[in-house]
Amino acid sequence: MRQIFIAGNWKMNGSLEANQQLIDGVKAGVSAGINAEVAVCPPAVYLPQVADLLADSDISWGGQDLSEQASGAFTGQISAAMLLEMKCKYVIVGHSERRTLNGESDQLVAEKYVAALAAGLKPILCIGELLEERESGDTEAVVARQLNAVLDKVGIEGIGAGVIAYEPVWAIGTGKTASPDQAQGVHAFIRQILANKDANVAEKVQILYGGSVKPDNASELFSKADIDGGLIGGAALDAESFLGICKAG
Ligand code: PGA
Repeated sequence: MRQIFIAGNWKMNGSLEANQQLIDGVKAGVSAGINAEVAVCPPAVYLPQVADLLADSDISWGGQDLSEQASGAFTGQISAAMLLEMKCKYVIVGHSERRTLNGESDQLVAEKYVAALAAGLKPILCIGELLEERESGDTEAVVARQLNAVLDKVGIEGIGAGVIAYEPVWAIGTGKTASPDQAQGVHAFIRQILANKDANVAEKVQILYGGSVKPDNASELFSKADIDGGLIGGAALDAESFLGICKAG
C-alpha cells in the first residue's frame, strides 16, 4: 500500500509572521494525529524559518524549484546543495507555473530532476496538460512526453526515487477540479507507462493530484486507486483547510 502524501506549495506567498501562524496551526493539527505524510514548500527565503519551526515535528519541507547547475554565476538561482543544507527532503520540479511563466522546457525540467536526485533530494515532478491540449484530445500525449523526458534521463529507478504530481493546468488556481474519474484515468495512464518499464517500481511510486484540491473534494479524489495524495496550492495557505485535506488522506 502506498502512503498518502499531502504537500503544500505556498508559491510566492507568506511572511515571517504569517508563516509562523500557519505552521503553528498545521503542526498542532498534525500532532493530534494524521495518517498521511505531510510536507510544505515555502518560498526559499523562508526555508530556514520553516526548518526551525518544523525541526521537532513529523512534517517535512521542500523547495519550490532548483537550478540544474551546481554553483556559479547564475543570479537568483538556488542549488540542490543549498536546499539540502536547509534540510529539505523534497523539491518541486517542473511546476506548470515555471514551465509557462519561466519557459522551462521538458529538457530543463529533466536536468533539474537529475540535479535534485544527485543531491539526495526527493523531486516532486509536476506534469499536466493545458486546457487546449485536453480539448484537442492530447492529454495523454502531453503527459507521456513530459514524463518520458525525465524517464529517458534517470531511468525507472530515478522515477522510483521521486514523487509524481499530475496537475492539469486548467485546474490550477481556477476552482475547476478534474473530476475524480478524470484524474484517476490519467493517473492510471501514468502508472501504466511506468509499469511498462518495471511493475514493482510503478506499484510503489506515489502519484499526487494537484489543481483546486479542497477539504470537500479531497476524500473522493484520494479514494481513487491511483491517486496517492495531493499537491495543494491555495488551500495550503490556511491551516484549517490544509488540515482538512490532510485528514482526508
Ligand atoms: P491550487 O494549486 O491548489 O491553488 O490549484 C495547485 C498547484 O499549483 O500545485
